[in-house]
Formats: sequence, structure tokens, C-alpha cells
Amino acid sequence: MPRSLAVVCLAAGLGKRTKVSIPKVLLPLCGRTLAGSALDVTDALLPDRTIVLVHHQADKVQRALANRTSVTFVDQGKPMGTGHAVKAAMHALGDFDGDVLVIYGDCPLMTTATLSALRLARGTAPCAMLTAYPSDTDGLGRILRDEAGRLLGIREAKDCSKDQLLIDEINAGFYCFDARALGPALQTLKPNNAQGEYYLTDVIAQFVAEGRDVATIEAEADDEILGVNSLADLAVARLVMQERILMEHLHNGVIITDPSTTFIDHGVKIGADTRILPCTVIGVGCTIGKHCEVGPFAHLRAGTVLEDGAEIGNFVEAKKTLVGAGSKAKHLTYLGDTVIGKNANIGAGTITANYDGVNKHETRIGDRVFIGSGTVIVAPSQLGADSMTGAGAVVKPNTLIGDREVWVGVPARLKKTRDLRSIKEHS
Ligand code: UD1
Ligand code: CA
Repeated sequence: MPRSLAVVCLAAGLGKRTKVSIPKVLLPLCGRTLAGSALDVTDALLPDRTIVLVHHQADKVQRALANRTSVTFVDQGKPMGTGHAVKAAMHALGDFDGDVLVIYGDCPLMTTATLSALRLARGTAPCAMLTAYPSDTDGLGRILRDEAGRLLGIREAKDCSKDQLLIDEINAGFYCFDARALGPALQTLKPNNAQGEYYLTDVIAQFVAEGRDVATIEAEADDEILGVNSLADLAVARLVMQERILMEHLHNGVIITDPSTTFIDHGVKIGADTRILPCTVIGVGCTIGKHCEVGPFAHLRAGTVLEDGAEIGNFVEAKKTLVGAGSKAKHLTYLGDTVIGKNANIGAGTITANYDGVNKHETRIGDRVFIGSGTVIVAPSQLGADSMTGAGAVVKPNTLIGDREVWVGVPARLKKTRDLRSIKEHS
């Protein structure tokens, strides 16, 4: 039977170095928070329990992560070190038996594959830990080994001698513990170090002193272990995460002309043969079909859906909008809370005025509608199939434009009803 799994995510630290007011673990990264990204990685391992340690701005962190299933939040109290945090988690886990996977809420780039490998590497050892050889080892715990290469322990940078600081193998901060070994080892921790903290890392030397080997594996890539301590780190993490997201779309047959100016959030679905042109921003919660074209300079925001063959062009922003199959909005347009049918043409400079200063309202545009350039549609309004507006028309709120009707002017009024034969000639 596979061993049970408990994930312990450390997110109680203050994050002073970011100098911003929101908790560090809630900083945004391609449509998720740092902690949300970290927990998505462990969720893929289907843990039996997930404990998130919180303290600083605990209510905010808890609220932001509240929609996750089976997470238990534990207030660590005043954070007194990583060992103190894991002790609080073990208390919450009670008599849990199995693997305890320790991760940080500020390390969003870890992969499920590496964490699976870490679990496998533990075997019967009390612990398997992840090490790495990054180019910059500043501030990281150094791995101490004997001449035979056997692991002896971890020394925090602040406690290292000059010679020890030259060690290039560092502790990445990810561990898989045997719950039964971890509990007792935590009891022995003492804050006898430069920072006066309870170091989780001291349990490693404790296991070694008991004659028990600790397994180590190396991270697959340097970027996996990147921890975000500052906004500069966040910018680096974003680049890595963005590249991963774009690579996945490229592998799926999405044509992305210039990845360096394309911003696509996590979880966006895009069909094959769709072209994403430069300087385009696609937010979390968008879905794009096959054979679509987006950009250049387009902005798709949460809840926007493009059906197959839809086209969104330069300086077009769409929010919570459904663009039906084959419909086009190619220039200088805002579409908010709008439902557009199939094969409609939204003229240059069209605005759906969805906000009355208090509430947002919906605009419905039927199949094959032709919106003249510079039309403003004040929501809520509805335009029937095959209807049309003239250039510069201002459609007042609560207007119901019937099928095939042509409305013009300011405010827009019915001019005539279109003859279906002439519509056929156009299409
Ligand atoms: C820790 C490791 C170090 C390793 C490094 C990798 C220890 C003692 N040191 O150092 O060997 O190289 O990670 O990044 O473990 N946290 C809490 N509660 C606490 C203390 C910390 O939740 O009481 C959280 C922090 O918010 C942070 C994470 O744990 O997300 C790591 O803590 P931090 O103090 O930054 O440890 P490092 O000094 O980076
Ligand atoms: Ca850190």
C-alpha cells in the first residue's frame, strides 16, 4: 500500500524584504498567488492532509486560500524558526503516520516530478532532502559531508565558518520525512544559533547522530528551488513561470509569434492553430478555441471565451465576454460583460458601456450582427440576429433591437429593417 502523505507548507514568515503591504505568499504570479502555485504542485500528489502554517496577516492568507479543498490552517504563533513551524504542524497532524512533505509558501516553481522523486528517495530513511548547486549560494544553508560524502548535517549561512561558506552544495528547503521519526527529533531542537531560532535543519544532524542515514537528491533545475524574498525575485520567478506556460501552449500547437512580449496566465486553455500575436495579455480564466487570432496588442481578461475562429485585434479589451464562433472585433474596442453570437462583426471603436457607476450590466449581440464603427452600446441592451448599427450610433440602455433592424444616430433609433437577401450578398 502506498504511504499516506501529509503536506506541510510554511507560510507564517513576515516577508519584510518585499516592502509591500500584502503578505509575501499572496504576491501574484501568472494568475495565482505564490502560495497557491506552491500548493497546486503538492495537490497533484493527492495528499491526505495539507497543513498551512500562517501567522502574519493570517486572516488575509487564509481568506485567499480558503477555496482550496482539505487545507488545515494552523496559526504558528510568533514564528520562531522553521523547526518551530513544523512542530506546530505535527501537533495538528496528531497521530498521522506516513510521509511528511515540507515545502515553503514562497517557493512557487517546484515541480511535482521532483517532489515525487523526493518521496521515492526516502525509502526507509527518516528523511530525504533536496539539495542544489546554485550559482548564488548567498544566505543558504550549506550541506556538510564527511570525506566519504556521507551527509553530516546542514549549517545555516549565518552560522558557517569562512571555509564552510565555500561549500557549493546547499539545502533547498524541501524535505520528505517519516512522520514517526520527525516527531521525536523535533523535541530535541534548541535555538542555539546565530538567529536564536528553532532550525528544522538541525533534525538532520540528529538523525545522523542516531546512526540513521538521510537520503539526498538534487533538484532537476536551479529555478525549481527559487524562493521569493523580494520583488526582484518575484520578477525572476515570473519569467520562469511564464516560459513554462508559453512552452506548453507551443507544444499544443498554439502559434505564439513573440513569446517575449506575450503574457498568458496559468490555466488558460487555447486550441490548436490559434495565433497569438505580439504584445498580448491573456488573463487567468480565459478560454480560446481553435483557429482564433488574438492581438497584436490585445487584452483578454477573466471570464472571456473565444469560440473557434473568433478574432480579436489591436487595442481590443474583452472582459467576461463570449465571442461566438467566427465573430470579429479587430480594432480599438471594449467588450465587457458581453455575449456575442456567431459571425458577428464588431466595428472599430465599438464600446459596450457596461458600468453605470454602481452596477455592471450585460450586452447581448446576436448572430451575424454588424456593429458600425464608433458605436456605443449602453448596457443592458440587446441586439437581435442580423441587426446593424450605423457609424457613431449611441444605443441607450434597455434598448431591444429586433432581428434585422438597422439603428442609427444619437440616441440610436430604428431606421429600417434589413432585407435578408441583401445580407446574403454581403456574407
Ligand atoms: C531555510 C533553511 C536553509 C535553506 C533555505 C532554502 C532553516 C533553518 N534553514 O532558510 O537551510 O537553505 O531555507 O530556502 O530551515 N517560516 C515560517 N515560520 C517560521 C520560520 C519560517 O513559516 O517560524 C517560513 C518562511 O515564511 C519562509 C520559509 O519558512 O517561507 C523559510 O524560512 P526562512 O526563515 O526564510 O528560512 P531561510 O533562512 O531561507
Ligand atoms: Ca527564505
